[in-house]
Amino acid sequence: MIIRELELTNIRSHPHSLIRFPEGRTLLEGDIGSGKSSVLMAIEFALFGLGSTSGNSLLRVGEESGGVRMVFDVDGSEYEVVRRLLRKAGRAQQADGYLRTPAETANLSPSELKERVLEVLEFDEAPDPKAQSWIYRYAIYTPQEEMKDILTLAPEQRLQILRRAFRVEDYKTAATNAEDAVRELRVQTSGLDALSRGIGELKGRVEGLQREEARHREGLAKQEEKEAEEEGRVASIRAEREELQRREVELQAAKTEKEYYERVQTESEEEVRGLSMEIEELTKGPDGLSEAIKEERALKASSFRPAAELKRKERGLEERVKKLTGLKAAVESKLSDYESIMKEGVCPVCDRPVEAHDFEARKAGKAAEREHVGDELDAAEAELAAIREKREEAERHLAEKKSLALRRREVARARKDLAKKEAARKRFERRRRFAKGALGEAARKLTELERLVAQRQAVDRRLSQAEERLRRARDEVVSTREKLDFVGREQMRIATELVAKEEASGKSSALKERALWLSDYFLPTVRQIEKSVLASINREFDALFQKWFGMLVNDPDKEGRVDEDFAPVVSQGGYEQEVRYLSGGERTSVALAFRLALNVLTKRVSAGMRSNLLILDEPTDGFSKEQLGSVREVLDDVGCPQVIIVSHDEELESFADQIFRVGKSGTESAVRVPTA
Ligand SMILES: Nc1ncnc2c1ncn2[C@@H]1O[C@H](COP(=O)(O)OP(=O)(O)O)[C@@H](O)[C@H]1O
Ligand SMILES: [Mg+2]
Repeated sequence: MIIRELELTNIRSHPHSLIRFPEGRTLLEGDIGSGKSSVLMAIEFALFGLGSTSGNSLLRVGEESGGVRMVFDVDGSEYEVVRRLLRKAGRAQQADGYLRTPAETANLSPSELKERVLEVLEFDEAPDPKAQSWIYRYAIYTPQEEMKDILTLAPEQRLQILRRAFRVEDYKTAATNAEDAVRELRVQTSGLDALSRGIGELKGRVEGLQREEARHREGLAKQEEKEAEEEGRVASIRAEREELQRREVELQAAKTEKEYYERVQTESEEEVRGLSMEIEELTKGPDGLSEAIKEERALKASSFRPAAELKRKERGLEERVKKLTGLKAAVESKLSDYESIMKEGVCPVCDRPVEAHDFEARKAGKAAEREHVGDELDAAEAELAAIREKREEAERHLAEKKSLALRRREVARARKDLAKKEAARKRFERRRRFAKGALGEAARKLTELERLVAQRQAVDRRLSQAEERLRRARDEVVSTREKLDFVGREQMRIATELVAKEEASGKSSALKERALWLSDYFLPTVRQIEKSVLASINREFDALFQKWFGMLVNDPDKEGRVDEDFAPVVSQGGYEQEVRYLSGGERTSVALAFRLALNVLTKRVSAGMRSNLLILDEPTDGFSKEQLGSVREVLDDVGCPQVIIVSHDEELESFADQIFRVGKSGTESAVRVPTA
């Protein structure tokens, strides 16, 4: 990486500064507090963001926003990165910035920016937004106040930092990971071993089950044969029974037939009896048909004058009786007239006296007439009475005749009825005779039925015995099949278990092999590599340190080296001196030589790290003029294409290719190129 251009806006004491860096050695020179270190802080911020520093320490007091823009080259390609700071509620925070690459310009968040810059620089480290890049810190730039820290650190802590700087820590991480893996593998294998225990026992059990299965199969074949036999027997008995039952059902009909014909028989008998009685009644008895026929015959034989003629005669006689009665009354009245005339002697008509004798004759005539009329009347009355009697008798006869006609119709009906009844009786007699025959047949069938039932019951008994035998045979088959089923399932279960156990056992041995490889080969190798890598770095480091310390101190009596833990050791005339008791210039020499050796070796061991930049902040604190001169030689020896040195010491001007003056007026810093 070569820095080309840096622009600060509201960074610490710089309201706005633009610096174009050349290659070679650049000196940023100025008084203490003028704003030199701020420029270096801006470079680190531009590349990696705030990390562990606070935004407030970078953003210029009283300003709401600020930022850094930096243009740099990596492998001949130009990049530009911009980061910004914004003050929010009194706290300066990073805002999004951008990265311009030859391919594109991308707006990125602070953490994305850091990630991309690490990629561009090929710094092989995980981006941690809470820290700056450690490679940058060791290999390129150490903040001014941390320069001498490396000397006063506790030995283990220093070693730890150096191990990280030289990436030796990676071996340790690999070893620790391998140890963890071995532990984890042991846990897994012990689990798998527990799972795979009992394989032999299970195999024995499978053999036992196979023998059992063979035995059951043999038994089953015999039992199935027996079952088939019993089935055949049951089937034939059933067929026999069915035949019997079929015939039984046929004969069963005889029962209802018997009942039916019995009923027909009794009904027919009753009908015949009833009809016979009715026929008897119709023919005989006082109202019977024969009596009626007799009466009719009698009536036909008798003859009567018709009643009408008699009635006419009767009426004539009644007329004659009435006339005769009237005549008799008239005669008697004349007679009594004559008697009174005779008695009075006066004619009632002419009132002349009458002669008794005249009237005597008349009176006698009249008496004779009365006699005659009376006789006639009696005779007429007698004849009337006789005629009347006759007429009444004729009327009675007529009535009888009429009733006889009625009777005759009845008789005709009765005759028809009789014929019907006789036909019916015949029919019923036929039925009775038929029923009798049918009853005989039914009785025969019923006897046959009884015999059949007995036979069928015997068959039933045989059938239930055969069925019982069949059931037992079937039960045996079923039970054997169940046993076989169980044996089969058990075999399956054990087989699955065995597969799982064998799988576990296989896995376990594979894992054991892996664990063994890790613990017996990989771990010792890694440890060995770590040791030899560290030892070789240590040797190189020591060589560089010795060389540069010698050049900076320039005292043949004093010798500087690092021990195997990279602790700097300075000795004078063969005596070791504690670093803290050295002079300021000597301590600075130790620190600078140490930093430079660290810079060179870190670059060398971090494969792919591209940095041809070195930044030194006040590296010559306490140096004599002579020593300042040696710095130039040392830097020549280090041979870095771009070196940026910050110093308040004007003496360094002589070996700088480019000088920038940093000055501050009031609270505002400015950077300018000094005019000759
Ligand atoms: N956030 C800040 N805002 C304004 N000035 C600051 C801020 N932080 C530090 N300063 C001042 O910036 C000046 C330059 O500091 P620095 O660059 O460290 O000086 P030097 O040139 O000695 O390296 C100092 O006077 C310091 O007080
Ligand atoms: Mg400073």
